[in-house]
Amino acid sequence: MKPIIFDVDTGIDDALAMSYSLNSPELEVLGFTTCFGNVSVAEATRNTLAVLEKVGKRIPVYQGADQTFMRGEKDHWAKHVHGEDGLGNTLNNDPIAQAESQFAPEFIIEQVKNRPHEITIIAVGPLTNLALAVKRAPEIIPLVKEVVVMGGAVTVPGNVNAFAEANIISDPEAAEYVFSSGLQVTIVGLDVTMKTLLPLSKLDEWRATGKDTAHFFADMTEFYIGYYESFYPGIGGCALHDPLAVGVAIDSSFVVTETMNVKVVTEGEEVGRTVGYVEGKPKIRVCKEVEADRFLEHFLSRVI
Ligand code: BDR
Ligand code: CA
Repeated sequence: MKPIIFDVDTGIDDALAMSYSLNSPELEVLGFTTCFGNVSVAEATRNTLAVLEKVGKRIPVYQGADQTFMRGEKDHWAKHVHGEDGLGNTLNNDPIAQAESQFAPEFIIEQVKNRPHEITIIAVGPLTNLALAVKRAPEIIPLVKEVVVMGGAVTVPGNVNAFAEANIISDPEAAEYVFSSGLQVTIVGLDVTMKTLLPLSKLDEWRATGKDTAHFFADMTEFYIGYYESFYPGIGGCALHDPLAVGVAIDSSFVVTETMNVKVVTEGEEVGRTVGYVEGKPKIRVCKEVEADRFLEHFLSRVI
């Protein structure tokens, strides 16, 4: 089993990715760390605890950054994409469980030091927690086995604007800091995630199982597909961004990667853009192709 720290900004696809990871015998999730992003960090923590309660798992949750690495407070969220509560307006009660008291970057530092060269970090929100961990304890850099990031759009347009993907533009300095740190980073960006679409028809199959969790995930995913249909008319489903990062952590043969020198644009009109082949910039493994059908089948066999 691969020990994992899973950094989330729990919106809808994060929730699906959480469930997929927890139902995957190849992974041992040591803890979830939360960041602002789709929602505020307090809401991301609440949502992460709520999803764990729904799926009946007790995994510790550590709250992390409530503001960006260098720019300060962030106050605009992706509620049009993920709903007012971040979970497609499906949340009826607050979870009973509480987050741990340790700050997420400190948890990352402690775990990596306890298990040198073993831990894979999956990060599917802004990269602020990881940037803070590396800044506080740069000695962890060679001790992290691998970092799988959902973020970026190197060969395709962005999803926030023509240039930028949401996780990267939410904290471009954190992304540039993490990419330049020497960590072994693979980015699972829109280049591949926009090719992994979950069609609406699957939600009825989930509901037909009669399971409570299946209804919970179907209802929130219906909201997400509604957003995708309004933003990309005729797309026929929602992109499985964060679940694909989990898929790659389980089995990297789902994707074809190319190592490129990647720069994150931190200033000007194209802020948040991830640019490939920039001389002098760090080497990052960029996912360029995905076996979308095989991944989808794998995800569907485990998520519910
Ligand atoms: C990413 O942005 C968020 O809205 C999703 O959860 C995903 O991590 C996709 O650009
Ligand atoms: Ca996310």
